[in-house]
Amino acid sequence: MTLTNPQEPALEILLEQARQAAQNSYSPYSGFRVGAALRLNNGQVVTGTNVENVSYGLTICAERSALVAAVSQFGPEIRIEAIAVANLNNAPSPPCGACRQMLAEFALPAAAVLFPAADGPRTMTFAEILPLAFDMKLK
Ligand code: THU
Repeated sequence: MTLTNPQEPALEILLEQARQAAQNSYSPYSGFRVGAALRLNNGQVVTGTNVENVSYGLTICAERSALVAAVSQFGPEIRIEAIAVANLNNAPSPPCGACRQMLAEFALPAAAVLFPAADGPRTMTFAEILPLAFDMKLK
């Protein structure tokens, strides 16, 4: 089953789960309500939302919330097969650089990443959104 087509039903469902997660956003400082849903190689879906903090810098994005929840629930062997990001603000929100680097630990290079882009929903592979991720191996 290909997950690279944004119209593909499994990705549509994942996107709806991301939208649902965004309803729980704690974002009193930015008002930007983000949700992320991760489909794992064990068949489970784990969601997260952004949780802001008055210190601003301690804010955690939806994608990293979902990631830490997934590892907490299912352990370090998980791999991410697909990622959907949504926001309730009708704005573009590709995963930020910090989230991409965090996701790189667990995301398969071919994982589909569906996110709101300036011209509408866009799907790219994880390898495309983060080429040359930092790791400790020489490439
Ligand atoms: N945010 C996310 O949740 N994901 C991203 O990839 C980018 C930004 C959140 C962080 C903050 O709560 C709000 O959006 C505005 O930056």
